[in-house]
Amino acid sequence: MQEHQHDHQHDLASTGHDHASWEERYGSATALWSGRVNPSLAAEAADLTPGRALDVGCGEGADVLWLAGRGWQVTGLDWSEVALARAAEHAAAAGLSDRVEWVRGDVETWEPPADAYDLVTAHYLHPTAEQRSVLLPRLAAAVVPGGTLLWVGHSFDEVRAATWGVSRFTPAAEVAADLDPREWEVLVATARPRPAAEPGHPDADEVVRARRR
Ligand SMILES: C[S@@+](CC[C@H](N)C(=O)[O-])C[C@H]1O[C@@H](n2cnc3c(N)ncnc32)[C@H](O)[C@@H]1O
Repeated sequence: MQEHQHDHQHDLASTGHDHASWEERYGSATALWSGRVNPSLAAEAADLTPGRALDVGCGEGADVLWLAGRGWQVTGLDWSEVALARAAEHAAAAGLSDRVEWVRGDVETWEPPADAYDLVTAHYLHPTAEQRSVLLPRLAAAVVPGGTLLWVGHSFDEVRAATWGVSRFTPAAEVAADLDPREWEVLVATARPRPAAEPGHPDADEVVRARRR
């Protein structure tokens, strides 16, 4: 596992989006997520030719392992030590360790290599609008020409927005509009019902899939 140190303070503890909150959440259960691939990744990446992929905010690594199992060489980035340790265990159990690399880092400061990935995927990061305005171009620049950017978030949810802040919810069309059309062909920008919506959880995802020209 690579380590990436970050040296700035997070002041968003009250939203539960700071590093300590995530580490605590992962530490409070043996598994936070289902271990199954996110439906939007399965839908949007199934037709792509395997190459190099980056999963930003990979959590316990289900999407990374799904891609690796389909022949991708995958880097999973997250800032949670607990989540990444779990992800590495799952990779070893699946015999996929040689196809994956884990990077511990803060997406706000981590600089992905430019023009390096055939697929950059991010599910449910929910940055603030200000954070997204810096993060999205940086992730987009990491995609090779001809490669794919997949950005997925929950649709606006009043209950969560009350704690997280409204700006952490962005309609797909708004995310897509931030991609320079001279450089990006937007293939999908839509709200899509979640097939396995759980009670109390938002029942739709904002999905953006774009191809770098
Ligand atoms: C809602 S979880 C989603 C996990 C995974 N993508 C999935 O769909 O199962 C969000 C993940 O992003 C990570 N994360 C949030 N903010 C981050 C940051 N600034 N830098 C790195 N990881 C971050 C959290 O630790 C968490 O694992």
